[in-house]
Amino acid sequence: MKELSLHALDIIQNSIAAKATRLDLLLEESGPILTLTLTDNGCGMSPELLARAGDPFTTTRTTRKMGLGLPLLRLSAEMTGGSLSIDSREGIGTRVTAAFRSDHIDCLPLGDMAATLALTIQGAPEVDLLYIHRKDGREFRLDTRQLRRELGAEVSLAEPEVILWIQDYIREQEEALSASSI
Ligand SMILES: Nc1ncnc2c1ncn2[C@@H]1O[C@H](COP(=O)(O)OP(=O)(O)OP(=O)(O)O)[C@@H](O)[C@H]1O
Ligand SMILES: [Mg+2]
Repeated sequence: MKELSLHALDIIQNSIAAKATRLDLLLEESGPILTLTLTDNGCGMSPELLARAGDPFTTTRTTRKMGLGLPLLRLSAEMTGGSLSIDSREGIGTRVTAAFRSDHIDCLPLGDMAATLALTIQGAPEVDLLYIHRKDGREFRLDTRQLRRELGAEVSLAEPEVILWIQDYIREQEEALSASSI
């Protein structure tokens, strides 16, 4: 993985696969600490699965093949001196928290969060997505429930013109957020 936004896309896909209808993605930059937190209301994980989910090397040959999304995210976080934590309850949901030291030479660049969010909304326009990017006391917030209210019930968020507008809007707001810090 080359960008944090691609890791974000990856864990969002996990939540969508877990049938989540609500996703809260929080990106918090506070000094040299960057924290990415995704909370969903999907199917959750059993304690057994949860115990293995972040680490492919603990699985044995008799268990199901494990994916690489979460272990790679853990690696990206730990490479910087950060960490990954996963909390999950079956039938309730899952929270994945990845903390990075952004001043570490191995920290991945943030990448294109606008593309990650636009792809997510296009693929799952019915999901309630709340994205909050906090940076040094300021924040940008995108709430698809609010967008839906503003656009009216007849317009799907997945319409190409709507998606392009959303992506441009996020890109603008993200740039404004980075430009404001020195
Ligand atoms: N948000 C979630 N809700 C419920 N289960 C999850 C969630 N995230 C991960 N899991 C479970 O943990 C497993 C491992 O996730 P991981 O992202 O590491 O791999 P994957 O999604 O199976 O494959 P890959 O990401 O490599 O395509 C998933 O297969 C799924 O069973
Ligand atoms: Mg995955």
